[in-house]
Amino acid sequence: MVLRMSAILFRRFLARPLQVAYVLPSSKGLVRRVLDKMDFAKARVFVEFGAGEGCYTRELAKRLAPDAKLLAFELDSHLAEHLREQFRDDDRVLIYEQDAASFRTELRKLGFSEADYVISGIPFSYLDPKKKKEILREVHDGLTPDGQFIVYQVTPELKGHTKMYAAHEVEYFLASIPPMFIVACHKSETTVRPKRGKKGKPARRGASQTA
Ligand SMILES: C[S@@+](CC[C@H](N)C(=O)[O-])C[C@H]1O[C@@H](n2cnc3c(N)ncnc32)[C@H](O)[C@@H]1O
Repeated sequence: MVLRMSAILFRRFLARPLQVAYVLPSSKGLVRRVLDKMDFAKARVFVEFGAGEGCYTRELAKRLAPDAKLLAFELDSHLAEHLREQFRDDDRVLIYEQDAASFRTELRKLGFSEADYVISGIPFSYLDPKKKKEILREVHDGLTPDGQFIVYQVTPELKGHTKMYAAHEVEYFLASIPPMFIVACHKSETTVRPKRGKKGKPARRGASQTA
């Protein structure tokens, strides 16, 4: 596993440790693993919470269809400026220097009622419980009927707060420092992909797949 540092993320962590939460950006492997859960051929509206220095945003931009949109939210003004610089020439990627809780208002301003995917790296465990509940309800209501909310976090605690979803897939991803849980919350069971066994046959559903 290759460790990547980001000077700006490190500085912003020192300035706001509870908001930024991690010193290192997500590893390339983790980014790929999270984004491989998405259907880029079909989806057109993507939302990212806590874009940080842009490790997911850059990979998302590589995969987005030409007519897709990505709304990336980042509270920290220094990180938001760094993101704006990177995506200045890509009109599919919109950077919002504001609280992720406002994403539905911004979706509506663009003429969208719902998003296909919301991915999140914000430290939910540190959020005030009332605020956490409000964001989680907004995300559920702001997704298309077959939309997904995908979260990467050091604990799988969010699964317990997202019982309104039809199904969850939980994966513990070890090739990351720290190791991360990826929790995919599905509004519809139909979007849960059958796990493939070694010979390409669908595997038996295990504890990590709870559709
Ligand atoms: C753990 S870092 C993740 C950064 C990046 N996504 C990564 O994986 O390396 C969390 C980021 O979420 C941002 N953040 C925290 N709370 C937020 C909120 N309510 N709305 C938007 N961004 C938030 C922080 O400023 C920080 O940049």
